[in-house]
Amino acid sequence: MPIKIMFVCLGNICRSPLAEGVFRDAVQERGLADHFEIASSGTGNYHVGEQADPRMRQMAREQDLSLQDHTAQQFAASDLPYYDHIFVMDKSNLSDVLRLDARDEYNGKVRLFREFDPDPGTFQVPDPYGGGAEGFRNVYDIVERTSHELLDRLVEEHDLRADGRARA
Ligand code: 4NP
Repeated sequence: MPIKIMFVCLGNICRSPLAEGVFRDAVQERGLADHFEIASSGTGNYHVGEQADPRMRQMAREQDLSLQDHTAQQFAASDLPYYDHIFVMDKSNLSDVLRLDARDEYNGKVRLFREFDPDPGTFQVPDPYGGGAEGFRNVYDIVERTSHELLDRLVEEHDLRADGRARA
């Protein structure tokens, strides 16, 4: 059974598609692809069906990462039981996701992504949408270092090995 991971932001065109792409890349690089099912979504519906923001695609492309295949989708209440880990980019994403958890059943699997950042700052990934290029660069740097740390923690927690099997 793969470990199901969902990254969540507001629009699903900037931060969470990047996190999905960087994390998937890290998983593939380490030969762990069979262990994971990886997705992203937004709490809002404004951009559903769109590609990732061109500024984020450009930022990723400069780092040899393609976000070309991404299509924005909205986070749904049914994602709460389905995914094993739900990593949100900021505190407003956190409250929006938890609002869908009407009976308080799933809050243990919903966490701020930057809890895993070795330099966590405010524990939030700043929304770059209304700002300039430096905001996108900052998001990239945060997402890059946090994704690798997160993967290390999951490998340890789930006792994963690169041959596609978990230790008994
Ligand atoms: P994201 O960025 O949540 O990182 O995808 C945003 C994208 C769109 C909007 C806000 C944030 N918006 O207001 O349309």
